[in-house]
Amino acid sequence: MSKTRAAITGVGGFVPDYVLSNKELETMVDTTDEWITSRTGIKERRILKGENQGVSVMGAAAVRDLLAKTKVDPKEIDCIIFATVTPDMVFPASANLVADEVGATNAFSFDVSAACSGFLYALSAGAGFISSGMYKKVIVIGGDKMSSILDYTDRTTCIIFGDGAGCVLLEPTTEEVGILDAELKSDGSGAPYLHMKAGGSRMPASHETVDKRLHYVYQEGSTVFKFAVTNMAEVAGEIVERNHLKPEDIAWLVPHQANKRIIDATAQRAGITEDKVMMNIARYGNTTAGTLPLLLWDYEKKLKKGDNLVLAAFGGGFTWGAMLVRWAYNSN
Ligand code: UT7
Repeated sequence: MSKTRAAITGVGGFVPDYVLSNKELETMVDTTDEWITSRTGIKERRILKGENQGVSVMGAAAVRDLLAKTKVDPKEIDCIIFATVTPDMVFPASANLVADEVGATNAFSFDVSAACSGFLYALSAGAGFISSGMYKKVIVIGGDKMSSILDYTDRTTCIIFGDGAGCVLLEPTTEEVGILDAELKSDGSGAPYLHMKAGGSRMPASHETVDKRLHYVYQEGSTVFKFAVTNMAEVAGEIVERNHLKPEDIAWLVPHQANKRIIDATAQRAGITEDKVMMNIARYGNTTAGTLPLLLWDYEKKLKKGDNLVLAAFGGGFTWGAMLVRWAYNSN
């Protein structure tokens, strides 16, 4: 009997309307469009504005887009996994809120916290549910409302991140397509370099934590940069080598959008030319768990059945990983 794999059979996405440009950031912190563009490749990012707008708003919008495109009834969905580090609340999971919002009344749902690698982790878990034969339709969302945890007086972090969410539908297949291989890694000793100090059980919210501005992203950028370049390139290389892929066998590199210089280094290491690298960092910045599904959303129309995609990410934790996905359908 042929093996059951999980195939991506649809993609959805959502980015908020508000565009925060480098020019506008110049009026908020001591920075320049030239510095941001040359050091990161980012020109603008989207921001979710308004009262009571959590990440689930974007996740639900992305799922509605997916359901409309694939014509799937939300009641058929077995499971929703939401990768995010900016859930609406500490609990319940934003995945629960999305399931309720879109009418996925038969689904169980939970969040995954793995920062910028969250979508890869969640996709791997979802693929496991499908290939085990237990479930037939799993939605995996990646998204973050980074603007909710950014200090807009800190020029080293506020210029990088943006808001957005994307999602995919996973279904079983016995063809040689879908999630073919994954290598996921984490190292908690990297926590000091990228984290949020307060608001968790170690340092619950108090007047003092607010006064000390501890509810924002803390990042030692150049240290994270070095780890990201080395580890993302290495893990992508591992996936390429152990699947005996030559650069010409790879249709697309799908790299986490943290910094164009990290993306370029990863592509170089895998021997992939720039025309085969998915990139939207200039328009959305770093949407943390949102970057990979938003790339698939943006590039979906260019993808053909049988295309080999190498997904790679690195982020807080540290967490990192790479995945080989063979595209399962022709768009249009
Ligand atoms: O997605 C999760 C994982 N995160 C990442 O992968 C991010 C990795 N890190 C990075 O992308 C980069 O480290 C940053 C974009 C955050 C910073 O770029 P960098 O080239 O590493 O700059 P740096 O931190 O080494 O700072 C260089 C200089 C400093 O000035 P001095 O000390 O040389 O005078 C900074 O104060 O650039 C200054 N600087 C800025 N100048 C203008 C830092 N941020 C800014 C800014 N505008 N926004």
